[in-house]
Amino acid sequence: MSCILLLVLVGVLSLAWLLGRRRRREGEPPLIQGWIPYLGKALDFRLDSQAFLKNNQEKYGDVFTVYIAGKYMTFIMNPLMYPSIMKYGRQLDFHEFADQVAPATFGYPAVGSGRFPEMGDQIQRSFRLLQGENLVLLAECMMANLNLVLRQDFLGGEGERGAGVVGMGWSTGDLYDFCNSVMFEATFLTLYGMPAPARRHSDMATLRHHFTKFDDMFPLLVGRIPIWLLGRTKAVRETLIRYFLPQRMMCWSNTSQFIARRAEVLEQYDTLSDTDKAAHHFAILWASVGNTVPATFWALYYLINQQEALQAVRNELHQVLKLPEAQGPQQPEVIVSKEQLDQLLLMDSAVNESLRLSSASMNIRVAQEDFSLRLDEERSAPVRKGDVIALYPQTMHMDPEIFTDPETYKYDRFIEGGREKTDFFKHGQRLKYYRMPFGSGSSMCPGRFFAINEIKQFLCLLLLYLDLEMAQGQEKAQLDNSRAGLGILLPTKDVRFCYRIR
Ligand code: HEM
Repeated sequence: MSCILLLVLVGVLSLAWLLGRRRRREGEPPLIQGWIPYLGKALDFRLDSQAFLKNNQEKYGDVFTVYIAGKYMTFIMNPLMYPSIMKYGRQLDFHEFADQVAPATFGYPAVGSGRFPEMGDQIQRSFRLLQGENLVLLAECMMANLNLVLRQDFLGGEGERGAGVVGMGWSTGDLYDFCNSVMFEATFLTLYGMPAPARRHSDMATLRHHFTKFDDMFPLLVGRIPIWLLGRTKAVRETLIRYFLPQRMMCWSNTSQFIARRAEVLEQYDTLSDTDKAAHHFAILWASVGNTVPATFWALYYLINQQEALQAVRNELHQVLKLPEAQGPQQPEVIVSKEQLDQLLLMDSAVNESLRLSSASMNIRVAQEDFSLRLDEERSAPVRKGDVIALYPQTMHMDPEIFTDPETYKYDRFIEGGREKTDFFKHGQRLKYYRMPFGSGSSMCPGRFFAINEIKQFLCLLLLYLDLEMAQGQEKAQLDNSRAGLGILLPTKDVRFCYRIR
């Protein structure tokens, strides 16, 4: 009986939705709504977003609107139109969307709620501390922390895992786990600092374990699934947040200016509880490692898989550092300066190529009023207030007209004649934007310079200290699409690799 009632209810809801749903107005982009109430085309999009968008582009052209999870999203599929979209700073806003999603995900009150005057602007200004002069300081600190963690844990230092490695020939490990343990801790130490009496926090493995549990649920939280429906996720998030309570952070030394400034900003607001402040710091932890760790994995994975690429990048490194052929970790630790990092163009190209292949971030803007969106010199499209305008750069990254053999990793794709290659074309026109793993325009990732630096620093140390190979019989790593739209994709499963001190 209750089954019949449920079916009737679903039927009534679907009918009401079909009758009441949006009608396309003249001149508006083609409208694709599906028949499932609220979800619309969400399931098709989630299953394989790239294929879904490509199919619709073939049917409806470069611009179309899709109803997904309660939102009308207009996708702009032609990268030649991107520059035009980015000019709409006032009418197309990023922060409104972020302010809806971030509080539900990380557990702090919305910044733009009116209870925290000027906090949004102060936070935006703090992002400058990830660039310029501060970037040099961050790079120095990151280099020291990478050396510390790598040498102690993996290269025969006094750490638990390191002991016994020297002289034992090849060791094996899980590549993602390896990148995660080194990058997570080194990034954490660089941004948040170390416990006053020691160089390393004693509970980093536990923090990382909880972080991974939370991160597994991240796509569902961003998709607005209430946290109480997600098992232990709320308890895990509370544990993670408690890690950053002000009384704990006060005891850490060598905190970066970026985090110190954010703490100062948060202190100005009595309307924030200590737990709210800690939740803000936790959100930055996610921003700083959530994408960087998988990006590091792919950068290293592709190099190890293509030994010719690895050797070319290593040769460049030796030339820039003017080092002899081998540099083992027993010799004084290598310091690669920010200036030297900037000279590693082939490594840059290799990192950017792995980002091209693994990034699937969606750039989202919310229309602040009804207006006509100019797409290029000939075309414009009416947009309604509250609609979402979305760019999906993965389709550009994988477009064979722009990147020949787009599925293939070519470590030197972004270098030509000893310089960075910047000319890529669509329909015979040069593209202004052809690589967008870090988003676009006003909301572009403020940590992008730091992120590229730290990935390059990690590669430098590994290539100098270690021989690296894939373990025998490993299958190719595959992209896990479950976080499509949200940044760098993870591998579906970890892969085994071998390393030996050079
Ligand atoms: C490979 C690593 C990284 C990738 C691929 C990445 C990507 C992104 C993307 C796509 C966005 C959203 C931009 C948009 O929608 O237009 C973003 C925002 C952000 N990222 Fe990153 N990111 C990385 C590393 C970092 C690091 C290391 C930090 C900090 C140290 C960081 C801090 C942030 C912050 C704070 C925001 C929010 C900006 C705002 O609210 O305006 N990111 N990132």
